[in-house]
Amino acid sequence: MYSNEDQKELHTLAKALLQQNGAGTQKEVIQLRKVINYADWRYYIENDPNLSDAEYDRLFSTLKQLETAHPEWVTPDSPTRRVAAGLSERFPPVGHLVPMLSLDNTYNADDLYDWDKKCREFAGLDQLEYCVEPKYDGASISLVYDNDILLRGITRGDGITGEEVTPNIMQIKAIPLSARFADAGIGQLEIRGEVVINKKDFDDYNGQRVAEGLAPLANPRNAAAGTLRMLDAGEVRKRRLNAILYHVSYTAPNEASPANSYPVKPEGLPKTHFDTMQWLAARGLPTPAKEMRRFEGIEGVIAYCAEFETRRDDLPFEVDGLVIKVNNFELQEKMGMTSHHPRWATAYKFKARQATSTLRKVEYQVGRTGVVTPVAKIDPVYISGVTVTSLSLFNEEVVREKDLRIGDTVLVERAGDVIPYVVKSFPELRTGTELPIVFPEFCPACNGRLEKQEDLAAWRCINSSCPVQLTERLMHFASKDAMDIRSLGAANVKKFFDMGVLADIPGIYSLNWSRIRESGGFGEKSVANLQQAIENSKTQALNRLIFGLGIRYVGETTAKTLATSVSHLRDLYEKTEEDLCALPDVGPKVAHSVVDFFQLEENRKMVDALEAAGVNLKNLQREENQSGGSLEGKTFLFTGTLSRLKRSEAEAMAEKNGGVILGSVSAKLNYLVVGSDAGSKLEKAKKLGTIS
Ligand code: IVH
Repeated sequence: MYSNEDQKELHTLAKALLQQNGAGTQKEVIQLRKVINYADWRYYIENDPNLSDAEYDRLFSTLKQLETAHPEWVTPDSPTRRVAAGLSERFPPVGHLVPMLSLDNTYNADDLYDWDKKCREFAGLDQLEYCVEPKYDGASISLVYDNDILLRGITRGDGITGEEVTPNIMQIKAIPLSARFADAGIGQLEIRGEVVINKKDFDDYNGQRVAEGLAPLANPRNAAAGTLRMLDAGEVRKRRLNAILYHVSYTAPNEASPANSYPVKPEGLPKTHFDTMQWLAARGLPTPAKEMRRFEGIEGVIAYCAEFETRRDDLPFEVDGLVIKVNNFELQEKMGMTSHHPRWATAYKFKARQATSTLRKVEYQVGRTGVVTPVAKIDPVYISGVTVTSLSLFNEEVVREKDLRIGDTVLVERAGDVIPYVVKSFPELRTGTELPIVFPEFCPACNGRLEKQEDLAAWRCINSSCPVQLTERLMHFASKDAMDIRSLGAANVKKFFDMGVLADIPGIYSLNWSRIRESGGFGEKSVANLQQAIENSKTQALNRLIFGLGIRYVGETTAKTLATSVSHLRDLYEKTEEDLCALPDVGPKVAHSVVDFFQLEENRKMVDALEAAGVNLKNLQREENQSGGSLEGKTFLFTGTLSRLKRSEAEAMAEKNGGVILGSVSAKLNYLVVGSDAGSKLEKAKKLGTIS
């Protein structure tokens, strides 16, 4: 897509644009578009950002300003067009140019042998070349590019007619708004793919929903499908969808919608699936190219399927299987389709990650904001490698919606890294001995009365000195993603709290060490470790502190946004709700909560006390990025199981010292850190000569 020279040039241009006070010319507008498109590609497709979020935002808002001042300079593929107004009301039905068929399924090696045999018969050959790629678990879409511009995006619908959701599709930054097809003599091109949501974004979003008292979305697939059909494009943007495109339609025109004149077979396309994916990737489109393998004959396919299934969780999004396709297009055409699916492709489905169990009882946990969460205790059930005994039911609404009772048989799903959840109960299996789930009226921790706020589905304990809330708040402050005070975990927080030496957050910095030593539970070494960890936390980045304060609705991402918008924590005192709403991804609810938080005298006192204790309140981020740790500018990729650290911990360590984490093996990779059971990344690195 971008040659090395292009990349260097675009990066230098971006830095230059960031430094100058814009000339406000049309030339600058064109340059801004180029560097933003490049930054999107680096971030969303290469997983290797070249700009910080703040730098990107600055370029973007300059472009927006210039285009507002000069509407005549706006082009249909300007990145600002992604900031759409939203869909007017319902989604207009649109006929697919080519019907969107589904895939035949296989579940084991025998099925694959059978499928291969049939394929060879239809193709009239002894051996076929197959491509294998992930089967993405999301919502399928069809995109039409017309004269190089993304013309529309359509959901699958019933396969013949879908719904046009173009403004929502435009929120997906992995999908370029324009791509060079005309060069290859192609006027119009219909491309199929899958809209997915990365597991991390899904978890973040669900965390936010739960914090707002809303029911979490069931799984990433439903989240992607639901998001595509939302009326508010701004909300779609917040959910950060991702996409992968895996098929170019150029077979027979759709008879159901003859109005769509369609070039039957664009000349200029490669002749195989493998080459087409590379060809699309070279034009900046997200494809399975990097994960794709080619095999002569079915044996290699079968071995690869078994191997890939063991590392299905390594991709950032959910995959529910692999898709095997006959590589050669001419053969694909010869083999044709049944009424349901193409004969030249099949899905190899991974084993289900669902199981049934019995709901034995419900316990109620108090969180740091006082929200009381019902937690289901079930008979232990083994789901793909993990024994599940306990599941959050989130809130009363979810319990009611799913019609759960004590004693019910329930279906439990564990999708990848996503926390396990109850899919449904089976009312038809009830014996009559099941009991209703009754919510407590009083806080299980302090016996205070629970209240239900109007806009929330959750019950809350409003006693601000409820002991569990206090300890939860302390634990959150010290947690890995907040101030990362290693040895101050749940057990020590509780111990200190019960001993009466720790009552609030600033208290962490003035612990009575002689009393702690006297208590007898701590050796000199653990005291020293703890003191060191507390000392280290004083210089944590501002976003970690903001996250650690536990402001309602402020998750990790919002904390970063807030931190980058100020140079000192107290600058947030001055921000109005309006100021805050102008920040990316901050809505009125979050803004209100932030303003409320900093208006409270007791919270300002806490900030003062933290400052007095020597905790950093300044935004050192920019300095930090430039200051150059020992790994400055070096790129890393961790693969396999590491023996001492979790992968995320190792990554954070490298980043802290100036290293950059890459998403995949490429020529740009400096260090591949290999744990046990490393898979394809190691092979690829060997191939590329990154390591030998
Ligand atoms: S090829 C004619 N490739 O799985 C082209 N489909 O269960 C047929 N899917 O409807 C589709 N990943 O929505 C293809 N790599 C992949 C896929 C994929 C996910 C979806 C697609 C299809 C469904 C069938």
